[in-house]
Order: sequence, then structure tokens, then C-alpha cells
Amino acid sequence: MAIQNQILNQTVRKKNGSNKSSNINLQQLMKIIELAKWAPTPDNCQPFTFQWNGTSLNIISHLEFAEHAYNTNNIPTIISLGSLLEYIYQASLSEGYYANIEIPSTLNFGKSCAKIKFTNTFKKNHSLVKKLKERSTDRRSFKGGEISNVIEVAQKSNQYKEVKVNGYSLKDSSVIKSLTLMETTCFRWHKASKDLLKWLRLTKKEVKSTDSGLPYKNLGLPFKEILAIRFLRRFFFLSKLFAPLAIFNYGQQMKSCLRSSAGILNLSVESTDFKSLVKLGRTATSIWLDLNEQGYGVQPLSQSSLLPSSLKSNIATIDAPKNVLTALQKGWSELQKKSPSQESKLVWSFRVGLSDSLPESMRTKRRSLVDLLKVIE
Ligand SMILES: Cc1cc2nc3c(=O)[nH]c(=O)nc-3n(C[C@H](O)[C@H](O)[C@H](O)COP(=O)(O)O)c2cc1C
Repeated sequence: MAIQNQILNQTVRKKNGSNKSSNINLQQLMKIIELAKWAPTPDNCQPFTFQWNGTSLNIISHLEFAEHAYNTNNIPTIISLGSLLEYIYQASLSEGYYANIEIPSTLNFGKSCAKIKFTNTFKKNHSLVKKLKERSTDRRSFKGGEISNVIEVAQKSNQYKEVKVNGYSLKDSSVIKSLTLMETTCFRWHKASKDLLKWLRLTKKEVKSTDSGLPYKNLGLPFKEILAIRFLRRFFFLSKLFAPLAIFNYGQQMKSCLRSSAGILNLSVESTDFKSLVKLGRTATSIWLDLNEQGYGVQPLSQSSLLPSSLKSNIATIDAPKNVLTALQKGWSELQKKSPSQESKLVWSFRVGLSDSLPESMRTKRRSLVDLLKVIE
């Protein structure tokens, strides 16, 4: 109730007055957004806010949160909008509402990137509500598993024929090498490591005082590595000097995480317009929820999939040093020889394996509804 009062206190009143005609009230809407805010976003940057005008909910995207070296052509932002819409859709059903979602044809920062109206429907309240909050990114080592089973779960859960699902096991060490090469490129790229460091919460104090970004326990790294990153952030001008060490250490960690996995799950699309990317995000998120429910841990590997596939098919360009571009080209072409779907226009890959669910202490945080939701009358 206190939060609702705070939100109502910040209500923006328009001249032509109230416009309340929806069958959903603010309290129900708050319940839906309270769940939807747990949707995944790159580095937990949470680039979206909500505006409720009494009839429809508008989602606004914010460049100041989304801007990142890896946010090439805003592909990750648009995919995470898809994740958010899937969360809104599922959370609405659990409250007895059908979310009618309208999206524009492009993303414009500062403007509405989705408009949602709610109509009554049958309440579908199975384990879903719990699942939305419990889904998480797991960067720890896994306990193996069968990739064929992962693919089966994903295919069943996939909602769109435009999105292709396949995957492969990680028995071939050259595949692990290529993935690691691409996943470590951020240490060779000044701007990317700077942007990444911005979202890392490396001390207890930082974790406590922020509600976005990645808490150090969530990174799945040994504590001595966290200390090294802390040092690197403080003395960033030395980053070039320490890059080889960082590449080696993180590379070793990544290789061991990959070896512990059931394999790589690939979701790919041939069309990369706004609507298709939103679909990719929506279906990826429902697959992710199902995999977590089935006892699998999931970690997106965007630097070794979204990034090189979008460069290869000329959907995106990056202003990265030549050695980064070469590493991505080399890694991707090596991978293409060995794994399915790597010829697709855009591929988003996930490392998947059997895993206990992430303990509460390792989870990410989210902004408060008071910061996220604005009522406009
Ligand atoms: C489009 C997109 C790309 C992502 N890429 C990566 C990635 O390359 N590596 C990674 O470890 N996590 C990646 N993530 C996961 C986010 O960091 C994570 O969702 C966020 O920190 C919130 O944590 P949670 O998923 O545990 O709720 C990605 C998420 C999204 C939506």
C-alpha cells in the first residue's frame, strides 16, 4: 500500500483530466509489473520504465541504461524487450488478464516501444508466478546433462515457427576454444570492458546501495578474481597491461564452465526486423523458464553468438579494434564448421546444464516500482 501511495503521489495530471476506463485497477497492474520487472536484461541494466494512463500501459526504453559497446544496433535491447513482454503476458494471465500487446516497427529511445491493453480472461495460476521470479542466469559450473533433452524441452516450449531451435554437445575441444576466444574479447576492447565494469557491483557496499547491475556473487567467479577485477577497475589505465592475464584467467574459467555443461542451445532467426527480434526474446524467455523448471541452469553467451552472427550477416557493425574483429571472425568461422545453425542470420546461444537453482544470495536485484512506474491521468 505504501508503494501504491508513493506512485499515486507522483501521478502526472494532464489538462483534459482522467481517462479511466480499463477493467484493471492500479493494484492489479502493480502486481503484474512487480513480477514482470524480473525479466532478464543485458548486465541487468533494466532499460525500460512503464507509464499507465488508465487504459493502456506504455513501455518506454532509455538509452542511458541501454548504451553499451555490445548493444550493437540495439539488438540485445530489443530482445530484452521481448523478454519483458513475455513476462508481462505470463504475469497478466496469472492475474486473470490477457495482455494485448501492440509494438511499433522500430525502437525509439525515450518513446513508447510497446503498448499494452488488458482484457479479462480465465485465471491461469499454476506454478507460473513462482517461476517468473525464480528464473536466473547461472554462471556457475553445471552438472552435465543431455543436450538432446535440452533441445526437446526448448522445442516444446518454442512459440514461433520463425525461431529455429537446435544445439550441440561440447565434446569437441576446438569448439570450446572458439567459444572461449569470442567470450574473452571484452578484455581486448577498452570500451567494452569499461561498459561492463560500469555494471559490476564488486563490494558488499555497492551491492547494498544499488538495485541494478551484477552483484559479485552472481558472476560465478572465485573471490580472488573479484579482487583482481576490483583492482583493474581502480587502476583502469593499467588494463592493457593486465589484459593477457585477464584473458587467461577468465578463459580458463569459461572453458571449465563449458566442459561442465550439457551443451549449447541455439535459437536462430532469418529475419531481423524489430518484430522478429521481439519474438526471439519472447520465446527465448519462455524456453529459459521451462529449462529452469526442469532443473537446468542457463547462461546466455551473447559475445559468442549474437555479436559475431550479426557482424557476419552485416546486420550490425562495431567500432572495435582490429584484433577484436579478427578474433570474432576467426571464432565464428571455426564454430560454423562444427555446429548446426551457425549459418543463420542471427543466432543467440545459451550454455545449459543440470544445476541446482541459484541461491537467493547469488541473485540479481531490481529497481523499485516507485522508480519504474508512472501514472499519467
Ligand atoms: C539480450 C540479453 C543478453 C545477455 N547476454 C548475456 C551474456 O552474454 N552473458 C551472461 O552471462 N549473461 C547474459 N545475459 C543475462 C543478464 O546478464 C541477466 O539476465 C541479468 O543480469 C539479470 O539476471 P537474471 O537473469 O539472473 O535475472 C543476457 C541477458 C539478455 C536479456
